[in-house]
Amino acid sequence: MWQGRDSRGDVGEGVLSVAASSLGREASASPGGSVPKRPAGTDTVFPRMGGTVQCEGVPLPEIAAAAGTPVYVYSTAGITSQYRALDTAFSAVPHRIHYSVKANGNLAILRLLRSLGAGVDIVSGGELYRALRANYSGRDVVFSGVGKTATEIGEALAAGVRLINAESEAELTIVNDEASRAGVVADIALRVNPEVTVSTPHPYIKTGERGNKFGIAYDEIPDVARRANRLSSVRIRGLDMHLGSQIAGTEPYREGMQRLLELCRILAADGTAQLEYLDVGGGLAVTYEGEDAADPAALAAVVAPVLPPGVTLLLEPGRYLVANAGVLLTRVLFRKRTGGKTYIITDAGMTDLLRPSHYSAYHRIEPVSARVGGQDGGSAVVDVVGPVCESGDFFALDRRMDDVQPGDLLVIYSAGAYGFAMASNYNARPRPAEVLVDGRRFAVVTTRESYEDLVRHEQPALAWRDA
Ligand code: LLP
Repeated sequence: MWQGRDSRGDVGEGVLSVAASSLGREASASPGGSVPKRPAGTDTVFPRMGGTVQCEGVPLPEIAAAAGTPVYVYSTAGITSQYRALDTAFSAVPHRIHYSVKANGNLAILRLLRSLGAGVDIVSGGELYRALRANYSGRDVVFSGVGKTATEIGEALAAGVRLINAESEAELTIVNDEASRAGVVADIALRVNPEVTVSTPHPYIKTGERGNKFGIAYDEIPDVARRANRLSSVRIRGLDMHLGSQIAGTEPYREGMQRLLELCRILAADGTAQLEYLDVGGGLAVTYEGEDAADPAALAAVVAPVLPPGVTLLLEPGRYLVANAGVLLTRVLFRKRTGGKTYIITDAGMTDLLRPSHYSAYHRIEPVSARVGGQDGGSAVVDVVGPVCESGDFFALDRRMDDVQPGDLLVIYSAGAYGFAMASNYNARPRPAEVLVDGRRFAVVTTRESYEDLVRHEQPALAWRDA
């Protein structure tokens, strides 16, 4: 049976042992070992002032007092600086940054990114709805996803999205039908499976290797494009790929770009399509522990010079823009010693931040306030766990941490991407609040769910229908 260990090989079997060995998580944060490097940017965006962590100019305890815990806290400056770094790196070529809404679809964050010039990459009708609610226009949207429904495709066409990234020939037929019904011609990018091998910290976040469910197989693209040309209501405008997630190096992008360019040449040579867009997807890595983050300038250096004239480059970053601009703030409920181990039990759980449990992902955790005169400034090796009734409900295992006591606040770093977005109501736990900070001010941008919210869609009286 799986023991739920994200460190040092206690993982039992199956995919989770793959996860642990490929991650090697916490290997460098050995009990009693040296303190790992902080996630990039956290010192500036989340500085420790007088012993207490702030978000920009707002002390985190003030946010906890106002909004309660657990609460996600996002930094305007953090998101802005990541966006600008990426945008600047690609300034030499025509490019568009389409933020991947799945990383964090909060309307306030979508509005902030829109004000910076971003478009969005969406994967569902719900994400389209979010984008439109945040005032994006259809032209700001590219629509990816391996399982779009006819309804979602119809909604995307009605909104006038810039591109639908088609992932199969069957999908192209449905887009064609929906477009002809709506009396429009749909602009399409074919999502290519570039079959490029990538190294990602977890197998679940690889997408562009042979055998993944995503995209159209590389060598089928020319035929699919030819057949698509016979459809009267779709027009091929681009090629798209997404290699995977948390990719720090440039080599997979260089290889993937070569594959896309090869296809461009084939499609141009046989007159199938003159492409206007090449979409290299998202996947840019951030630092969670000590690992390298993606370097936008290095990425631009391999991608921009080979961009054919007249073609606009599209990027679909999610994590890179928001991961290290967000933290999860939680309060310690209990410190419990049992079975030879010390557990720090927090009011946040896997329902609020799933990544440690689901991917064995490392998130740095610190007390918000340094303990004054605390137990000799002591530390201990602990498991940081949530209240959910699952042994897999943990944030850190066998990790050396400063002594923390019930009532203390903890900050869980690098939680801005795939944090709230993957939260659930398991154990009937209301999802947490979200707060956006801007300089010395902060706003609750999502209120904590209430108990009433938990049952809102359940019918009090059953309306039986005869079959
Ligand atoms: N474009 C497409 C088509 C994608 O599927 C994804 C992510 C992105 C862009 C954005 O990737 P990013 O830049 O954020 O790496 N829940 C996982 C990550 C899953 C990513 C899925 N696709 C995690 O918490 O690590």
